[in-house]
Amino acid sequence: MNKTILISGGAGFIGSHVVRHFVKSYPEYRIINLDLLTYAGNLENLKDIEKEKNYLFVRGDIRNREEMKRLFEEHRPDAVIHLAAESHVDRSISDPTEFISTNVVGTGNLLTLARDYWKGSYEGKLFYHISTDEVFGSLGREGKFREDTPYDPKSPYSASKAGADHLVRAFAHTYGLPAVISNCSNNYGPYQFPEKLIPLAIYRIMNGEEIPVYGKGENIRDWLYVEDHARAIDLLFHRGQPGETYNIGGYNEWKNIDLLRLLCRLADERLGNDPGSSERLISFVKDRAGHDLRYAIDAEKIRKELGWEPRVSFQEGLAKTLDWYLSHREWLDHVITGEYRQYYNRQYYDRPF
Ligand code: NAD
Ligand code: DAU
Repeated sequence: MNKTILISGGAGFIGSHVVRHFVKSYPEYRIINLDLLTYAGNLENLKDIEKEKNYLFVRGDIRNREEMKRLFEEHRPDAVIHLAAESHVDRSISDPTEFISTNVVGTGNLLTLARDYWKGSYEGKLFYHISTDEVFGSLGREGKFREDTPYDPKSPYSASKAGADHLVRAFAHTYGLPAVISNCSNNYGPYQFPEKLIPLAIYRIMNGEEIPVYGKGENIRDWLYVEDHARAIDLLFHRGQPGETYNIGGYNEWKNIDLLRLLCRLADERLGNDPGSSERLISFVKDRAGHDLRYAIDAEKIRKELGWEPRVSFQEGLAKTLDWYLSHREWLDHVITGEYRQYYNRQYYDRPF
């Protein structure tokens, strides 16, 4: 094993794809998946690789400085890929507290420990922070977010992510910590927690329940298949310039209502429903407070400098995602009933959660 990489938040949606990608692509790296297993962390996402020799799961809280210090001392990571976060905008609106502690304080802890632990010898070290396009705020009908777009976060979630990004840049500037940041648009794909728009709508369609659309469904997001994001993370981890920021996006803007209509049509075809039956489940509900109108990413920097482009078209990715959820009813049921939270104990401790 020639490198130890600490991946935080590896039991979450994007994190589990990143962990799988690195474990399978780089048998010579030791991958430590550090995750607290909040409601969003699900080790069932990683069943297929949990026995691999180069993989280790460690349960821990990035907010706990002493715990993280022990982790650094025991596992001696050469690099951190930091995804652990509270990630759902609606939850941040209901209660911002955990967003501030996990996203800001937790990131500050990891940065401080990386600085202290790597002190004096940054050669071959990297702190790679995974951020979001939401730090740039909301676009009107025109334009796209570039790396130099000024920060203007609008929700407690995006403000907490912006706070984390500022800390990463401050550590790079003040201490010379080798750090890379990437800001990505909306991801979708297998293993996404069914509180986010696409898996929520699929779950509701499967159960013949209402699909809640905020406001008039006019808000626009730029969707990227999660494996394309994992590939971009691999590329930036290996070839990103320390001190630099990279935008990652799908060149794939959809109004929420148009996306849902497409999803409903695809679902009716697969489920053998009468045409239009899933679309009748769409229900317009009260808008999200402070709802950002539009996000769109200009991903020319990573394309021109490193040759990255999305590979999975939206039609293909959405069909794959839908098929995955339809054939993983058990995964969904475990998430909905909370059964997934027992997996860790059965697997690692054989005692109740
Ligand atoms: P997620 O909510 O699915 O997963 C987050 C993971 O972090 C979970 O496994 C959770 O248990 C873990 N975690 C939370 N608090 C922790 C703590 N205190 N200590 C250790 N682990 C903790 O999130 P996601 O959608 O996979 O997003 C991952 C990262 O990517 C986040 O930083 C998010 O801001 C960013 N991001 C997400 C998207 C998206 O569309 N989902 C887009 C761009 C960027
Ligand atoms: O842009 C990147 C961000 O994308 C990530 O940083 C976040 O972690 C991730 O959660 C996501 O944020 P959004 O708020 O864009 O995603 P969400 O799936 O919650 O909502 C997508 C759009 O759909 C948004 O305009 C709100 C709307 N929506 C969402 C839900 C859950 C609805 O209309 N109804 C819903 O029930």
